[in-house]
Amino acid sequence: MAKMLGTDKPAGMEKPVQYQVTFLPDKIQLAVPAGMSVLAAAAEAGVELEGPCGGKGTCGKCRVKLVEQDGEEWVRACQTPVNRDLVVEIPQAEVSVQRKSDLSRRAVLVDLASGVEKVKLKVASPSLEHQVADADRFLEALGRENVKLSLEALRALPGALRQADGLVSAVLCEDEVLAVEAGDTTERLYGLAVDIGTTTVVAALVDLGQGETLATASASNTQNIFGADVIARIEHATQKTKGLEQLQHRVLQVIRKLVTRLAAETGVKEEEIYQITAVGNTTMSHLFLAVDPANLAPSPFIPGFSRLVRLKAKELGLNTAPQAQVYVLPNIAGYVGADTVGVILATELDRKEGVNLAVDIGTNGEIVLAAHGKIWSCSTAAGPAFEGAQIEFGMRAATGAIEKVKITEDGLLQLQVIGDSEPKGICGSGLLDLVAELVRSGVIEESGRMLGAGEGDALAPALRARLSTTGSGNSFVLAEASAGRKEAVVLTQKDVRELQLAKAAMRAGIEILLSTAGLGYQDLDQVLLAGAFGNYVDKYSALAMGLLPPVPAAKIQSVGNAAGAGAQLALISRSLREHSIEVARQVVHVELSSRSDFQEKFVDALSLQQEI
Ligand code: FES
Repeated sequence: MAKMLGTDKPAGMEKPVQYQVTFLPDKIQLAVPAGMSVLAAAAEAGVELEGPCGGKGTCGKCRVKLVEQDGEEWVRACQTPVNRDLVVEIPQAEVSVQRKSDLSRRAVLVDLASGVEKVKLKVASPSLEHQVADADRFLEALGRENVKLSLEALRALPGALRQADGLVSAVLCEDEVLAVEAGDTTERLYGLAVDIGTTTVVAALVDLGQGETLATASASNTQNIFGADVIARIEHATQKTKGLEQLQHRVLQVIRKLVTRLAAETGVKEEEIYQITAVGNTTMSHLFLAVDPANLAPSPFIPGFSRLVRLKAKELGLNTAPQAQVYVLPNIAGYVGADTVGVILATELDRKEGVNLAVDIGTNGEIVLAAHGKIWSCSTAAGPAFEGAQIEFGMRAATGAIEKVKITEDGLLQLQVIGDSEPKGICGSGLLDLVAELVRSGVIEESGRMLGAGEGDALAPALRARLSTTGSGNSFVLAEASAGRKEAVVLTQKDVRELQLAKAAMRAGIEILLSTAGLGYQDLDQVLLAGAFGNYVDKYSALAMGLLPPVPAAKIQSVGNAAGAGAQLALISRSLREHSIEVARQVVHVELSSRSDFQEKFVDALSLQQEI
């Protein structure tokens, strides 16, 4: 029986009161039942809006502007019921774009053959004596056996042939002509590598001819409106009508936006992108393709698919060339996905000598240990703490984020803020630094308890002055309210607990992989820190708080967004793409939830201080 939106009453019985909501700037309108939150209405409308706390009212990131006749008002969408017709302005979602060209030279040396190529052709002109169809003359000029033309290529051909006097460029992938472009465009062949994180989506635009990354762009994964972690997303996908569809719609919407920004930034046309690789954790891969993730949640955590998936961009409605090839790299297990395969590809963990550990710190924490030709992996529900979600003033590493913290002997706080602006919040690397420094200076006890107002007689006065206690608990003031900022930026006791749980889960995972391999931390030759903020994490902070085992700092190396780098390598090199299949097969997955020693190791790892 048909139901009205958001109500359990069958249609046709008493009609619930409905109001019209108009979302700006796209002027999307829909009628929703009275009482539905603006956030839920935005979700129904497919409007881009984020909500990392999943609508609990705690993150403040769903702020929207209500445009009323008598003025405007900023409100939290999740806490605002629709109780009249509303006009809601959605703030422009932040996209950070970085121009860069540092894609591993290694890949260029190994094999730069992406699998798509462009070939310049001079096709003979027809005449009354030579009445041969365009496609036949084109294929004759191409001179390859058993090649088929895509419908798009067939449609473009007559026009392209006549635009530049028979000079065309054919885009080929294996035995298919994907497209035909007028003139010589062989210098312009592009690809897109996408890393779909639970919290952040990163896309890189790559010149497939040169193997060079032209720019990368990142934006929040607006699926977070339905929950911050993969479990919440799986629940939404499986328990809500159209849930799976909504989640896929949101991630595709983010990717489309990133493509548009990257194209504008680089002067590349969207339709010149002919190949795409995507990595993500297993849940993200499922949601990207709208494959039911229901069986990932309960034990034994079975994915719908784990092999490499190949399809065309038009099947997903991406704003690239419609016939662009999309490769979703293979997953390893229910909670170790293609992003981990990307990390292994980028770090060459499977080919390195000795004992090497890679820790990918994100909303989920994935850990890979490679030793003497074998590879083990596990994942921990690290929680979104490291990416700034579920932290009172947590934010992505964007302008205004505190990214580094030092506390001087006099108790003075030295904050490094991205973009040299006023601090707005704190990102993962800053959070790690801050907690490590606060433990070192005695504001946070080893157990994780934060001192409250009036405590800490031995503290430097400048630090003591920052201790605060309110009805919601103890907190530490990082930056007072100012003219440009209504509220003070603080670190709360709850934030410390979030980080503590996340780091203990990661550390317990590391210990379990080492013991599975029959090794100790003394055997480690190298520890690689991957993840969106891997480049920025201070290794001394990570060591001091026991996120990593007490290895010499010289053995720790940050490798940045290795999952994304792996996706880029698989994009420009077909052989590495094929190698990803081998890698996924080779990894032995260790399921932490089935390990009786996990709890013990987790409890051991809760302390926030480690001797180094
Ligand atoms: S405060 Fe509204 S989604 Fe977090």
